[in-house]
Amino acid sequence: MTPILLLGAGRMGGALAEGWRDAGAFAAADLIIRDPNIDAAAFEGALVNPAPEALGAAKTVLLAVKPQIWREAVKDVVPHLAPDAIIVSIAAGVRAADIAEAFGGRRVARVMPTTAVAIGQGTASIFADDADARAAAHALFAPVATVVDLPNEDLMHAATAVSGSAPAYLYAFVEALEAAGAAQGLDAADSAKLARATIIGAAALMARGGEEPAELRKQVTSPGGTTAAALSVLMGEGGFGDLLPKALEAAVTRSKELGG
Ligand SMILES: NC(=O)c1ccc[n+]([C@@H]2O[C@H](COP(=O)([O-])OP(=O)(O)OC[C@H]3O[C@@H](n4cnc5c(N)ncnc54)[C@H](OP(=O)(O)O)[C@@H]3O)[C@@H](O)[C@H]2O)c1
Repeated sequence: MTPILLLGAGRMGGALAEGWRDAGAFAAADLIIRDPNIDAAAFEGALVNPAPEALGAAKTVLLAVKPQIWREAVKDVVPHLAPDAIIVSIAAGVRAADIAEAFGGRRVARVMPTTAVAIGQGTASIFADDADARAAAHALFAPVATVVDLPNEDLMHAATAVSGSAPAYLYAFVEALEAAGAAQGLDAADSAKLARATIIGAAALMARGGEEPAELRKQVTSPGGTTAAALSVLMGEGGFGDLLPKALEAAVTRSKELGG
């Protein structure tokens, strides 16, 4: 499994390294990192931008560069890799067959993670035809994420829409909630404090488990009360039930376009 070669150590590569360290899963010493613009101090103890010959030691390669430049980024690396190195890609939209081809037929898993891996609370949707590649992806992500195995690669688009992109939906919701609270007369800072703490607390109650979201919603919604009045807007015509399918459709369409 180790050393793990991180190809790209930006937001997601950095989030993973932080999560692994805090979970005691992998230490910096387990990592070889290749990134032209790395903040080396943030990865102290890792082997950073070594001579290409050192890449042959990597048992697992995490492809974590932007999808637009992935071919360019792997070109110089491939000749130095061990033949049995396993490739785990988080590049959005890039198909496993294309990755396998670029990596000279090596075994490949695809993963769609979220940045909360940095605090051990990420999600990771995994697809791999090969059992060893799937096991490697599990070993990388299970310590820092809730993992879901996808039965076919096309579902990666839907997983991206419902998970990879979804933290931004929640942040957008909180932004709008804060602004709406301020529009009702609350001091902007007070509205922000209330909105953020309320959402974090509500998510923590859901995380405690045992109750469905619909049940939790009913517990805080008295018939004819204030919450019911707001929900008649949010869950009525043009509300979440209409908006989220449209939003996910847009994300799926874009994911397919990026995949080419
Ligand atoms: N961020 C997310 O929430 C998220 C969620 C799911 C999946 N992903 C996937 O994760 C991947 C990385 O995303 P990110 O947000 O971490 O991007 P990012 O912050 O831009 O990180 C990519 C890193 O790769 C570096 N890089 C550029 N060219 C390279 C090369 N030839 N070899 C090695 N490294 C190179 C970049 O350096 P420069 O800055 O100098 O270009 C940057 O530090 C993407 O494929 C994305 O689809 C991200």
